Amino acid sequence: MATDLHELLRSLRVWDPETTELPPFDPGAAPADPLTLFTRWFAAAVAAGQSEPHTMSLATADADGLPDVRIVMLHGADADGFSFATHATSRKGRHLAARPYAALAFYWPVLGRQVRVRGPVAVAPGEEARADLRARSTGALAAALTGRQSEVLHSTEELARASEAAWERAGREPEAPVASWTLYRLRPTEVEFFQGDARRRHVRLVYRATEEGWARDLLWP
Ligand SMILES: Cc1cc2nc3c(=O)[nH]c(=O)nc-3n(C[C@H](O)[C@H](O)[C@H](O)COP(=O)(O)O)c2cc1C
Repeated sequence: MATDLHELLRSLRVWDPETTELPPFDPGAAPADPLTLFTRWFAAAVAAGQSEPHTMSLATADADGLPDVRIVMLHGADADGFSFATHATSRKGRHLAARPYAALAFYWPVLGRQVRVRGPVAVAPGEEARADLRARSTGALAAALTGRQSEVLHSTEELARASEAAWERAGREPEAPVASWTLYRLRPTEVEFFQGDARRRHVRLVYRATEEGWARDLLWP
């Protein structure tokens, strides 16, 4: 079994020219603000047909400093930060309450691009979390209403019952409140843009927040 896995792993490559275009990236011509570059790269990923470009890895640490990571959706990126939503009572919600810092990673393989973001995380006002949830689908509301995220599930029947009730309520009451549903905003202190290169001369441009504004450096790949 392990041999099969290793054979499979060895047979795989990243950035197959049939599916990946590695665009040139001139860091000297990059904008002064990482949000402008993020917005540009995001639009390019969408235009290149990247599936689910708005999903990202969200890394947090628990009270002891031990790391964890999972995928969440990006809900927005603007002067207030990168926003995502989840239950404050979930594992990640508990991590963020204990240590309000996180890191994000986006990977857009069709363009060989990665973006990493780090910084402190704040809870957005409750009204904004409610508006954010109202603007999403019935399924998103039903999922939020199902609740108990990250608790141990004792039977699939229990989930089926809770989910059925949540879907029914979401359909009947599109503005149903979900007390634990929380909108978080990560305010970036560091944003790194990675552009893959076929000769492995990858370009890494990091923006770091300073009192005078954004400082920029290149990093060895
Ligand atoms: C594509 C994708 C998108 C997801 N988006 C979210 C999301 O926006 N919010 C969320 O709470 N969980 C989302 N999840 C589920 C999380 O990955 C995770 O299972 C859940 O939030 C519990 O994480 P935790 O136990 O670390 O709190 C998503 C999962 C996938 C695969």
